[in-house]
Amino acid sequence: MRTTVTVDLGPRSYPIHIGQHLLAELPELLQQADIGRQIMLVTNPNVDALYGQNLASALTQAGYKVTRTLVPDGEQAKTLEQAAALYDAAFAARLDRRSAVLALGGGVVGDLAGFFAATYLRGLPFIQLPTTLLAQVDSSVGGKVAINHPGAKNIIGAFYQPRLVIADLATLTTLPKREISTGLAEVIKYGVIADGEFFVWLEENMSRLGRLEPAALAVAVEKSCRIKAQVVGRDEREQSLRAILNFGHTAGHALEAVTDYAVYRHGEAVAIGMMVAARLAVALGMMDLPQARRLQHLLQMAGLPVTLPEGIAVDSLITAMQHDKKIISGRLTFVLPASFPGHVVLQHITDIALLADVLRASRYEL
Ligand code: NAD
Ligand code: GLY
Repeated sequence: MRTTVTVDLGPRSYPIHIGQHLLAELPELLQQADIGRQIMLVTNPNVDALYGQNLASALTQAGYKVTRTLVPDGEQAKTLEQAAALYDAAFAARLDRRSAVLALGGGVVGDLAGFFAATYLRGLPFIQLPTTLLAQVDSSVGGKVAINHPGAKNIIGAFYQPRLVIADLATLTTLPKREISTGLAEVIKYGVIADGEFFVWLEENMSRLGRLEPAALAVAVEKSCRIKAQVVGRDEREQSLRAILNFGHTAGHALEAVTDYAVYRHGEAVAIGMMVAARLAVALGMMDLPQARRLQHLLQMAGLPVTLPEGIAVDSLITAMQHDKKIISGRLTFVLPASFPGHVVLQHITDIALLADVLRASRYEL
């Protein structure tokens, strides 16, 4: 069984295929993508051993000339140095403008390979094969591709849409539990920002998702991709609406930055950030306390942290928020729940004393 969600961007529209064991159908699915016979498959050693080697063999058997290129596992792969290694490999393999770049892995591989695809020969056909839950529900969809600068994450990049996304749900069975939880944070985010019924469905089905029940996973990934596709279809370059996807990210990014990206997985920091935003909404009278507790409970059911660690100075978090790349003209902006669940608003926060109080309170559960 396969479902397909379309990201509607006129001539740059593309399908997201979601289902079990879709990687086995890749040679057939590639026929829709209008690519040449040469492929650069980018992955990391971990995912390569699980899926990359078999996939490269299947593609070779189907008549493609495949260059398999491995990048290091983890965030350290999103560097100019690793992008340069991909340019060298592409040059040596004599890729041409119809050669396709396939990103097999999580958000790290997708962001780096997408950045490479966007820039080599001024743009190669790009195909996302996400193998983490976070990548299937978020990073493989919407065309944000990037590498990191030593001073800031994701600051060198582009909007470059893939031709095709293939989310094989069977790959999630080999993911560590912690990576499932980090993806679930983004899934819960979609319920809060855009779909109250989906939030209620998540409350009722979180234990099935924790067990990776195929039918429940299919609903969660499809629903998440539909919401992201709708938002990106209306505001591809984040001029306005797309900013709602950053719910939980203002405080979440700050927490990741002050802990040197070494303590929290992205979704864990976003979960804590969602609770900071919920508490701000309560303080501003946009949400009531039982609603914020409902969000806290769902995040906990997904195995996610919900409080700020004791040792982190509130001032350093606020400074990190003020340096975030999404700050425009120095205005600190939060995405806050309003008519919870299912709706959010963008809110400028000028009362820094109130924000500091909320951050201090965020060290304890509601
Ligand atoms: P990741 O890519 O580091 O993957 C997490 C871990 O899971 C890695 O060790 C990886 O090797 C392993 N892994 C991947 N697939 C596996 C599988 N099927 N079985 C077993 N292990 C597997 O992390 P992530 O959470 O997927 O992505 C995080 C990155 O995504 C960050 O760099 C973040 O900036 C980026 N991101 C981008 C967007 C976007 O819109 N472009 C959105 C959100 C996050
Ligand atoms: N992950 C946020 C976005 O794609 O806009």
